[in-house]
Amino acid sequence: MTPARIPQIPYRAFDPGVPGEVGARRFFEVMDRRRSCRFFSDRAVSRETIEWCVKAGSSAPSGAHKQPWRFVCVQDAGVKTKIRRAAEHEERAFYERRANEQWLKDLAPLQTGPEKPFLEIAPWLIAVFKLAKSDDGGQVYYLNESVGIACGMLISAIHHAGLVTLTHTPSPMGFLGEVLHRPAHERAFLLLPVGYPADGASVPDLQRKGLDEVMVVV
Ligand SMILES: Cc1cc2nc3c(=O)[nH]c(=O)nc-3n(C[C@H](O)[C@H](O)[C@H](O)COP(=O)(O)O)c2cc1C
Repeated sequence: MTPARIPQIPYRAFDPGVPGEVGARRFFEVMDRRRSCRFFSDRAVSRETIEWCVKAGSSAPSGAHKQPWRFVCVQDAGVKTKIRRAAEHEERAFYERRANEQWLKDLAPLQTGPEKPFLEIAPWLIAVFKLAKSDDGGQVYYLNESVGIACGMLISAIHHAGLVTLTHTPSPMGFLGEVLHRPAHERAFLLLPVGYPADGASVPDLQRKGLDEVMVVV
């Protein structure tokens, strides 16, 4: 039997109130200030702030509108400690054995290492899981693309709230499912510490590619 069609409703256009060039430039100027931060303050962030950010992430497009994501938001200190311990265990193996020479060379300028104190200091950790199946067991489509876009929107919302995050990928991330007691169809995708930057926090002085390197017009 063909499933019932979803009724159509009028599209409500978003009016930025300024010409497109101005709106797009303003958005760029906000987004260009985003940086991955590895030094967090323990200053509290309200649950409501996190909820709005997650709602923004969850407003993302997804293959066949399956919304194949779960955002597990951790504020419990004991759970954060468990996550830090497990992440550092994997990260030590990564830096000592798993990463190849080129990967370590590419990471060296960023001065990252196996110690992850921010996993206990940041007031929130958002563990993003991708759903290999819908909660009702149905198929999902373009899983990585969908969850990647949702994470991009979540990271943008965190930035827009005046907070910082780090796109963290302790590899492999299977421990997150265990520590957070997630069902088998949820697979860890990213771990995002969220909070305010520490006083005096610094970031690597990176340059971004120019438009001529990333954009082709035909
Ligand atoms: C998929 C992905 C995984 C990343 N994993 C880590 C990580 O595990 N640890 C880390 O310190 N930074 C990680 N990063 C952050 C990058 O190093 C950072 O985005 C990059 O250096 C550019 O800096 P920016 O985010 O400040 O523009 C990751 C970024 C992405 C997109």
